[in-house]
Amino acid sequence: MGLGRLSPLAPLYFQNKAPTAFVHYLFLVYNLNCGFTPFSSKFKTSFRNFQNKLLFLCSSSSAPGNQRLAVREFATQAPLPPNMVKAIRVHELGGPEVLKWEDVEIGEPNKGEIRVKNKAIGLNFIDVYFRKGVYKAAGFPFTPGVEAVGVVTAVGPGLTGIQVGDVVACAGGGSYAEEQILPADAVVPVPSSIDPVIAASVILKGMTTQFLVRRCFKVEKGHTVLVHAAAGGVGSLLCQWANALGATVIGTVSTKEKAAQAKEDGADHVIIYTEEDFVARVNEITSGNGVDVVYDSVGKDTFEGSLACLKLRGYMVSFGQSSGTPDPVPLSALAAKSLFLTRPTLKHYKTTREELLENAGEVFMKVASGALRVRVNHTYPLSQAALAHADLEGRKTSGSVVLIP
Ligand SMILES: NC(=O)c1ccc[n+]([C@@H]2O[C@H](COP(=O)([O-])OP(=O)(O)OC[C@H]3O[C@@H](n4cnc5c(N)ncnc54)[C@H](OP(=O)(O)O)[C@@H]3O)[C@@H](O)[C@H]2O)c1
Repeated sequence: MGLGRLSPLAPLYFQNKAPTAFVHYLFLVYNLNCGFTPFSSKFKTSFRNFQNKLLFLCSSSSAPGNQRLAVREFATQAPLPPNMVKAIRVHELGGPEVLKWEDVEIGEPNKGEIRVKNKAIGLNFIDVYFRKGVYKAAGFPFTPGVEAVGVVTAVGPGLTGIQVGDVVACAGGGSYAEEQILPADAVVPVPSSIDPVIAASVILKGMTTQFLVRRCFKVEKGHTVLVHAAAGGVGSLLCQWANALGATVIGTVSTKEKAAQAKEDGADHVIIYTEEDFVARVNEITSGNGVDVVYDSVGKDTFEGSLACLKLRGYMVSFGQSSGTPDPVPLSALAAKSLFLTRPTLKHYKTTREELLENAGEVFMKVASGALRVRVNHTYPLSQAALAHADLEGRKTSGSVVLIP
């Protein structure tokens, strides 16, 4: 290594700096001596080799405490080796603090799989359920996340119809990662007219909204619809879509600010359910007739009141439980008004590739045409997922929340 050009003042400059800073300086001198300019491909390859060697040196050191420190310090300052990525992992159930920012190994895609470098990741209340154990993960540790958009960086052997460089969206598991391996048939292409951040915040929430208003209960002109958490990620889309289908929309929210947003999204009436009795208000708004359908994602706190808001033969669509799981419902509670009750899940409305493409296609078409306004009201670095979870659970967010790797 041509150390001849190393500045004699270097040891003085680096004496109070992290040891890795000096090692990086040595690396730069070495490369310039080799004639590699920074950011050239040779420089990058050389950097990768250098980095692997440094990790090897650190891990084969005889002082275990220093070894861990050196590896961690280096990891925060330099890109990871090509088979390692940063991801959020959960080793045990609990509060936001169980979301750990870690280095994880990622392999190459197998047959039928692709490797995707995520550009943006949608935050969903579902991620909270998995973190707390309301929904069960397949095992530990697991990487949460069900909504992301990224660029394909590798395709499995023999795979056709998808190429490196394609921008794809996925409404599936393990998305809180810089890169992930996905089944190719689980992703959908993202139209170039849609910003990846917007697409990442609407792929799962938009497809959920689509099946709720178009298939689970078909909203039509003349219907009156009650949407709880109307300013939330799904709630905002539900208000807009139900309004566009010609329904009268009643939304519930917790604050005045959220009420203003729900109004803008097409809610004809907004009830602040933390201050007002929403059952009495719905009764008043509908002149005692009740609503055709309730889209209830709040669960425990609203379930009983939602049933009371329905008209005869009305539809109770219980599709979430942000306040907790509702208590068991006796059949007699439905018999009182010949009500319909369903507890639907998106995965049962996209069981085939055709269903997935049709649903996602309709969502992207509405977003691209401006018929569906996606509100990305909050972004956080992926490494700060714990903070994002705390804010979502604390009812501090509205619209969509996006994590940026
Ligand atoms: N079934 C499916 O396939 C499916 C798919 C996607 C999403 N979902 C469900 O859709 C719902 C909305 O998801 P999202 O990601 O868009 O979240 P979100 O609606 O943006 O956030 C949850 C909202 O729920 C309201 N809320 C009421 N009581 C709460 C409490 N005790 N703790 C926390 N929040 C409370 C809050 O709005 P206010 O402050 O206005 O009360 C809060 O902002 C979730 O229940 C989720 O499980 C279901």
